[in-house]
Amino acid sequence: MDNRISRATAYLEQCRQQIDEELELCISRHSASQRLQDTMRYCVLGGGKRVRPALCLAAARAMGVDDNVALIPACALELIHAYSLVHDDLPAMDDDDLRRGRPTAHIAFDEASAILAGDALQTLAFALLSEAPTLSDRQRVAMVAELARSSGHQGMVGGQAIDLESVGQLLDVEQLETMHRHKTGALIVASVRLGALTAEKVTEHQLTSLTRYASALGLAFQVQDDLLDIEGDTQVIGKRQGSDAAKAKPTYPALLGVDGARQHLARLLQEALDALADFGPEADTLRAMADYVVARSH
Ligand code: IPE
Ligand code: IPE
Ligand code: MG
Ligand code: MG
Ligand code: MG
Repeated sequence: MDNRISRATAYLEQCRQQIDEELELCISRHSASQRLQDTMRYCVLGGGKRVRPALCLAAARAMGVDDNVALIPACALELIHAYSLVHDDLPAMDDDDLRRGRPTAHIAFDEASAILAGDALQTLAFALLSEAPTLSDRQRVAMVAELARSSGHQGMVGGQAIDLESVGQLLDVEQLETMHRHKTGALIVASVRLGALTAEKVTEHQLTSLTRYASALGLAFQVQDDLLDIEGDTQVIGKRQGSDAAKAKPTYPALLGVDGARQHLARLLQEALDALADFGPEADTLRAMADYVVARSH
């Protein structure tokens, strides 16, 4: 397991270089406002683990597809993620002042700039996908639809809405799971599915297995995020430790206790790995990413 975690860490580092180079290019093209462009660059570059683009590339790899074919979808996922973080940190939402070890965008710039940068990052993601030169028209349309569904009201934004409506409320495990599956799980599922869809030959059976893997992993990702809010170190996580408790957010450890949340995490990891049973060594990077997600310290 330790071996797989260090493989995933090395893989994330390798992805970061490719992804950041491409993101820098996308953001540097003409913009109507220099300040907007500066804010977008601040939000996207200079931090972040790049888990979603790495999962997209790893899923493409599991299908035998080369990294450069999946690079644009991978960037689109990171752009949506970065936008979600900028809006999540706003005073009207989590009101956080630290992200990726730096002041949040609305502190470093101002609220209006942060809102606009989020808006622009979101539309940039769809613009990139719809024009991706490595994809067929059919793939582009399928991916735009998938990303729109998973990031909108039926996915991430829907989960964020449940999150805000639930502050100070006592949710049961089922309600908490629904919230987490939407706000975080949906984009992680999309990351893996977009990677798989880069292969024209992907079968329904393969897509179903990869979706099961990502669905367990997506939930696990947010359970670990909740645990890090309690057990993490502000310096390491790059966000203010204890922020959830301070805002009475419903979280897994708040409901199940730290040990209960950890046990749940172990079950989810097993579920994710079991879903890959029909894949051979081509899915080893996905397996390593699963180990990493539940063991990560930031
Ligand atoms: C944080 O995501 C927000 C959640 C969905 C839990 P990450 O932990 O992937 O944040 P970065 O991209 O590494 O900063
Ligand atoms: C955020 O969940 C999920 C998003 C869609 C951004 P959190 O509010 O727990 O994320 P952090 O802890 O601020 O990164
Ligand atoms: Mg939040
Ligand atoms: Mg938050
Ligand atoms: Mg959190």
